Amino acid sequence: MGYARILILFILLLKIVTHMEIGYNSYQGSIPWQFGNMSELRYLDIAGANLSGTIRNELGTLVNLATLFLFKNSLFGMILNEFGNISMISSLDLSDNLLSSPILDSFSNLKSLKLSSAMYNDMNGFVPEGIAKLPNLESLLIWDNFFSGTLPQELASKLPLCLRMSTGSARLKENED
Ligand SMILES: *[C@@H]1O[C@H](CO)[C@@H](O)[C@H](O)[C@H]1NC(C)=O
Ligand SMILES: *[C@@H]1O[C@H](CO)[C@@H](O)[C@H](O)[C@H]1NC(C)=O
Ligand SMILES: *[C@@H]1O[C@H](CO)[C@@H](O)[C@H](O)[C@H]1NC(C)=O
Repeated sequence: MGYARILILFILLLKIVTHMEIGYNSYQGSIPWQFGNMSELRYLDIAGANLSGTIRNELGTLVNLATLFLFKNSLFGMILNEFGNISMISSLDLSDNLLSSPILDSFSNLKSLKLSSAMYNDMNGFVPEGIAKLPNLESLLIWDNFFSGTLPQELASKLPLCLRMSTGSARLKENED
C-alpha cells in the first residue's frame, strides 16, 4: 500500500484529529480531497512534501483551520474562491510553490488572518483593497511574484515592515514615498 493510500485511510479513520504535521516527507501527487472531511482540523502542515497539483477547494470546508502550511511544494494553478471560507485561519503559508493565481477578493473574508506568506510563486494581478482592511493582519510576504499595479495605500501605512521587505522585488511596483 502506497503512502498516499495509508494517508487517506488515516484521514478517514481520524475525523477527530485537530492537529496534523505531515510535512517534510515525499508524497506523490496532489493534496487528497479527504482533508476536506477533517472538519475539526485546526493545524495542517504539509510543507516540503513534494505535493503537486492544485490546491483543493475542499480545504475551504475546514472552517476551524487556524494554521495551514503548504510552503515548499510544487502546487500550481489557481487558488479557489472557496479559500475565503476558511474563516478561522490566522497563519497561512503558501510560499515557494508554482501558484499562478491572483490574490482573490474572497481573501478579504479571512478576518482572522494574521501572518500570510505567498512569496516565491508566479502569482499575478492586483492586490485587492480588501486585504488592507483585514483587522488582524500583521505580516504579508508576497515578494517574488508577478503582481501588478501598486499596493493598496492603506496596506502601506499598516504594514511598514513587510512593505520594506517586499520592495526587494523588482517585479512588484509600489508607491514610493
Ligand atoms: C514527487 O512526486 C512526483 C509526482 O507527483 C513523483 O514522480 C516523484 O517520484 C516524487 N519524488 C519523490 C522523491 O518521491
Ligand atoms: C467528505 O467530503 C466529500 C467531498 O467534500 C463529501 O462529499 C462527503 O460527504 C464527505 N463525507 C463525510 C463523511 O463527511
Ligand atoms: C464557500 O465559498 C464559495 C465561493 O466563494 C461560496 O459560493 C460558498 O457558498 C461557500 N460555502 C460556504 C459553506 O460558506
